[in-house]
Amino acid sequence: QELQMNLEQIEKGGFDHFMLKEIYEQPNAIKDTFRGRIRVSEGIVKLAGVEDNLQKFMNADRIIIIACGTSWHAGLVAEYIFEEFARIPVEVEYASEFRYRNPVIRPNDVVIAISQSGETADTLAAIKLAKERGAFVFGVCNVVGSSISRETHSGAYTHAGPEIGVASTKAFTTQITLLTLMALRISRAKGAMPRADYFRYLQELEMIPEKVEQALQTNLEVQTIASIYKDAPNCLYLGRGYNFPVALEGALKLKEISYIHAEGYPAAEMKHGPIALIDERMPVVVIAPKQEHYDKIVSNIQEIKSRSGKIIAIVTKGDTQVKALADHVIEIPETSDALSPLLTTIPLQLLSYHIAVMRNCNVDQPRNLAKSVTVE
Ligand code: G6P
Repeated sequence: QELQMNLEQIEKGGFDHFMLKEIYEQPNAIKDTFRGRIRVSEGIVKLAGVEDNLQKFMNADRIIIIACGTSWHAGLVAEYIFEEFARIPVEVEYASEFRYRNPVIRPNDVVIAISQSGETADTLAAIKLAKERGAFVFGVCNVVGSSISRETHSGAYTHAGPEIGVASTKAFTTQITLLTLMALRISRAKGAMPRADYFRYLQELEMIPEKVEQALQTNLEVQTIASIYKDAPNCLYLGRGYNFPVALEGALKLKEISYIHAEGYPAAEMKHGPIALIDERMPVVVIAPKQEHYDKIVSNIQEIKSRSGKIIAIVTKGDTQVKALADHVIEIPETSDALSPLLTTIPLQLLSYHIAVMRNCNVDQPRNLAKSVTVE
């Protein structure tokens, strides 16, 4: 018994929980995702599975992404990235919905299945269905040799290393990294983006691990904010564009490990319902980095403030406008809009982590949840 406990301590590498360890592993995990796959100065992105099937991706009339849980959120971020970079229309589907429908799959559709474990039953079944209907299916998995990695026609691994905490953290950011690499490669093959932009994105991507490191330095501030809101019964997360899926993921993290009811929304949808919930007891996490339509999110924040909601804002370093309105701000380094989810996610992971610890929840093994759901 004692030996086992010591072993676990060693595995946690000095961290109190696997989740925290995995949050802190993200700079290296992201590096591992692009190690050997990019040569920035030459503008090269090389993923064997994409290279071997480049024509299929180039000719794709549509990409259908299927996944569950956090992987589905990574798919949503990828939707924005693929459409912007490669100009290919993307649909993101819950694997469970996809498989129990009669989905329309056309010859030039490419299906991308995303799964950390590579064992999720619904995703696996959706892949089988897509294959039966003649689609080319590409897998984005973390676990090498997993069922999904074997069932797909081709794929690429995220190389995040083992993820033990049930709530997914480094798997999410590495999935986004990998999907960004794919979108860049396909964009270049199609000539869908100006060369200068392509090079700029590659350079910025290479700098992300260092910026994630900086984002992790918000830990103590986030902990303080967590102590203020740990007893809130509800919490709202708002984001726009690339950061709308980050809002969903932030809310999911809070639900999963702290059991606080949380909802993620596109910021502009607030006026169609959630605004009715806002009063002085409602914390609202607003993901508001300097990005396109920044002014719109500023006005969303004003709307929350005028209804006495408590605002926790994720902003770009040096921000002044949101800072003047929000109750708390957490600063992250600047990057381009498309890559910002890799940074804005970090403080949200930390926020849910600290709140869960303060509520004495079982962070690594939350009630009723499993790391991989192999049943339907
Ligand atoms: C479970 C886990 C989640 C995960 C989801 C999909 O619900 O608790 O963290 O996002 O399954 O898992 P996958 O392994 O397919 O990414």
